[in-house]
Amino acid sequence: MMTILDFEKMKCEKRKISMVTCYDAWTARIADGSSVDCLLVGDSVAMVVHGFESTLGATTEMMALHTAAVARMAKKKFIVGDMPFPSFRKGIVAAMESVDALMKAGAHAVKLEGVYGHEDVVRHIVGSGVPVMGHIGLTPQSIHQLGGFRVQGREDTTARSLMEQAKILQDLGCFALVLECVPSELSQKITESLTIPTIGIGAGPFTDGQVLVLQDLLGTHPEFKPKFLRTFMNGYQEIKNALDVYDQNVKSGAFPTEKESYQ
Ligand code: KIV
Repeated sequence: MMTILDFEKMKCEKRKISMVTCYDAWTARIADGSSVDCLLVGDSVAMVVHGFESTLGATTEMMALHTAAVARMAKKKFIVGDMPFPSFRKGIVAAMESVDALMKAGAHAVKLEGVYGHEDVVRHIVGSGVPVMGHIGLTPQSIHQLGGFRVQGREDTTARSLMEQAKILQDLGCFALVLECVPSELSQKITESLTIPTIGIGAGPFTDGQVLVLQDLLGTHPEFKPKFLRTFMNGYQEIKNALDVYDQNVKSGAFPTEKESYQ
């Protein structure tokens, strides 16, 4: 299993880190058998599994439940649990309650979005012995402030701010940093300026690793086509076909056969 020490080692050795989201036991079983390096129980679970319009629907209870399901099945993977909004904005005690729930559920590290205003919380979590992954750029928990899902850091001021945030998070002790929806040139600059690895989503090819939402890379959502997404199978069509064939087999009486029945 990958450990926290491997993140920086892989960056030094210029080996790319692959991360994928995982929310439940059946996908954890598949991911655990794959060569993917690490799993993120992302707060995107609120949208993908629970049907919320944004990640703001996630709660600590929800994240702990999904982290536990993944941890029970994926014994060979490093698991990062996402801290939901506003668990890390209510002060250190409340943040530590959320960290406690995620770590007891089986996470090996936590991830949280942004930096300004909760530097003390990040420092405290790291100081408590819990690895923290940062997340800057398009931070979906701030979607209403950002005015929508859009690329961040196109202007000089926002680019400079992202460079600064990355450095602060490294100095606070984060072991890795997610860069979401940032122009390639900027994410390359950030990546080269840090000793900790960057893991990109919509941040181009120069980050130290990549992360995608599992259901997106499996192509289960045909209408969701952001520029950065590559689908590695047509999951929607393949799963729908299987359901249609099952339905036809049931209705025609072709399923179950005698062989599929108890005598
Ligand atoms: O919640 C999530 O899935 C994430 C990734 C997109 C990085 O934070």
